[in-house]
Amino acid sequence: MTDQDLVLLERDDHVARLVINRAESRNALSFPTLLRMRTLLAELRKDTDVWVVVITGAGEKAFCAGADLKERRTLNEEQVADFVRNIRGLMDDIAALPQPTIAAMNGHSFGGGCEMALACDLRILDANAQIGLTETSLAIIPGAGGTIRLPRLVGAAKAKELILMARRLTADEALNIGLVHRVAPAGFIAGVADEMVEALLRNGPLALQAAKAAIDGGLDLPSEVALEHEAACYARIIPTSDRLEALAAFAEKRQPKFKGQ
Ligand code: COA
Repeated sequence: MTDQDLVLLERDDHVARLVINRAESRNALSFPTLLRMRTLLAELRKDTDVWVVVITGAGEKAFCAGADLKERRTLNEEQVADFVRNIRGLMDDIAALPQPTIAAMNGHSFGGGCEMALACDLRILDANAQIGLTETSLAIIPGAGGTIRLPRLVGAAKAKELILMARRLTADEALNIGLVHRVAPAGFIAGVADEMVEALLRNGPLALQAAKAAIDGGLDLPSEVALEHEAACYARIIPTSDRLEALAAFAEKRQPKFKGQ
């Protein structure tokens, strides 16, 4: 398998799907895999024709079993530090994508796999799959944003329980604590992801990006500054032709046709 094949990029009508393509290793993130993913994300970030990004894994067993533990045994301490810098960079690249992102978790999602899902905007998990930040069971810690993003999502108390106990949650448990937005019937992750994609594509693509930027950018700001940030995000969409198209469609009682302009 060439480095190009480690992660596949499928494009279809304003939707880009990144598929981690190492089913035999449960889509574990080897160094070449995460570097390939970062290259593709850099492309997608600039691609104004891509309105939604879906991240999924090949096969049915795992979305991603985290860092490649076989490769890890071959790395010296300096190389491990370099890997950790890059895997953190990968999750930051995902979080920083302007487009809405969906983690379509087709199977188990552990360690870096769970961190990848946490960096996405929306998360769906297969009903038979488990999810968790299980790093402490390997005598390491989540190093790609997991200790930051999980507490913000489920609260510090729950995050401590999950991380310190290296819990593997069932899909229903993950749904109950708000770690995932939806549970897909076993084997039907792609269909549920498509439903979510369709719902997103019904809305103005630049508005989705502005709303995402408003939420993400405002989270860590005092509310008065966050409100100014929201105003700046709104200002970006006032001059767009999609906004006028939505108003025209409303007046004409038809569905709008957005162009991302
Ligand atoms: N890194 C490298 N290889 C991995 C891997 C990982 N994180 N997770 C699984 N694999 C490999 C296995 O070693 C095995 O390889 P082999 O066929 O050469 O023996 C292959 O993938 C299949 O794994 P297996 O455990 O037999 O599959 P499964 O479907 O029964 O279980 C998991 C899948 C994901 C539940 C299980 O592999 C697992 O718990 N992996 C570790 C997850 C983890 O702790 N991640 C945190 C990393 S920080």
